[in-house]
Amino acid sequence: MVKGIIINEHGGPEVMRWGNISLEEMGPNDVHIEQSVVGLNFIDIYHRSGSYPLALPTGIGMEAVGKIIDLGQNVQNFKLGDRVGYVMGQPGSYVEQRTFPSERLIKLPENISDETAAGMLLKGLTVSYLINRTYQVKTEDTVLFHAIAGGVGLLACQWLKQMGVTVIGTVSNQEKAEIAKKFGCDHIINYKEQDFSTGVLEITDGKGVPVVYDGVGKDTFERSLKCLSDFGILASFGAASGTPPPCPISLLAPKSLYLTRPGLGPHTANRKLIEGIASPLFQAIENGLSIPINQHYQLKDAAKAHEDLAARRTIGCSVLKV
Ligand SMILES: NC(=O)c1ccc[n+]([C@@H]2O[C@H](COP(=O)([O-])OP(=O)(O)OC[C@H]3O[C@@H](n4cnc5c(N)ncnc54)[C@H](OP(=O)(O)O)[C@@H]3O)[C@@H](O)[C@H]2O)c1
Repeated sequence: MVKGIIINEHGGPEVMRWGNISLEEMGPNDVHIEQSVVGLNFIDIYHRSGSYPLALPTGIGMEAVGKIIDLGQNVQNFKLGDRVGYVMGQPGSYVEQRTFPSERLIKLPENISDETAAGMLLKGLTVSYLINRTYQVKTEDTVLFHAIAGGVGLLACQWLKQMGVTVIGTVSNQEKAEIAKKFGCDHIINYKEQDFSTGVLEITDGKGVPVVYDGVGKDTFERSLKCLSDFGILASFGAASGTPPPCPISLLAPKSLYLTRPGLGPHTANRKLIEGIASPLFQAIENGLSIPINQHYQLKDAAKAHEDLAARRTIGCSVLKV
């Protein structure tokens, strides 16, 4: 038995219960990980609340980092004591120890601490595929990235600046605006005070942007479409404010737009895909991408972490210490 968080019903943060959990039996291709730090992600809220329903009872959490303490007989490429991280797979990373398929593990470079890795793996891999696969950004582009002071947002902001891209970011308050500026955001729009689509059209002399990265969802979706230039792409990759409304395809016609709802699951479905987005991420870190971990919680206090994330009180990345 190990300690961890389990939910027996969907609901608010209070449904998360700290208690004993039995470890899954280890298969020949699995490893057993003693976890040190767990990453906090918005998807954990969707899983807990039931907006992405799960079969109950269930663990939650999609990311953690730790040390291999046991190996299945067929496991190659990893050894006892290796520091590893993982993202996605079955929800259930809010635990002290975990059995996990070796196929999905990421070996951590020595210069990246457990805490840094847990703060950035899921979010950084997301940025990696969004800016290199969903839409391949170009130096001359000006792009709109919503919630730029969030976990995904601050990583995206820095990485886009490394690539020479001009970044327009949205935030909900002055403190977040100042942080975004510190991280290199070129144009910051407080979308509580100003209509962001008007702001984007002003900044781009009426042309609009070739891509909008929208993890906010319901509150921004329709106006995000207005920000696009001809042939632009809306990457609707999250729903922090709720699920976006259904979109009649005719809305895309006047500017010949593209709409996609990308997810990290397919982008991490096998080792080759994972490595394809992990190696640019590690390279971006080598090039100076910093991981702003501003919120630290004990794993057993995950309810408090969920409250803060849902209430927009967090800035940058957050971790849960085991
Ligand atoms: N599809 C994928 O592969 C993938 C992978 C990872 C994350 N995501 C998505 O990326 C987004 C960001 O994830 P994250 O973990 O880094 O979270 P985060 O950005 O740190 O937190 C969410 C932010 O969204 C903004 N927001 C706007 N309206 C909100 C509302 N009604 N309630 C709560 N927040 C609201 C807030 O920033 P302001 O206060 O500045 O508005 C808030 O800080 C989420 O939608 C998440 O689901 C998608």
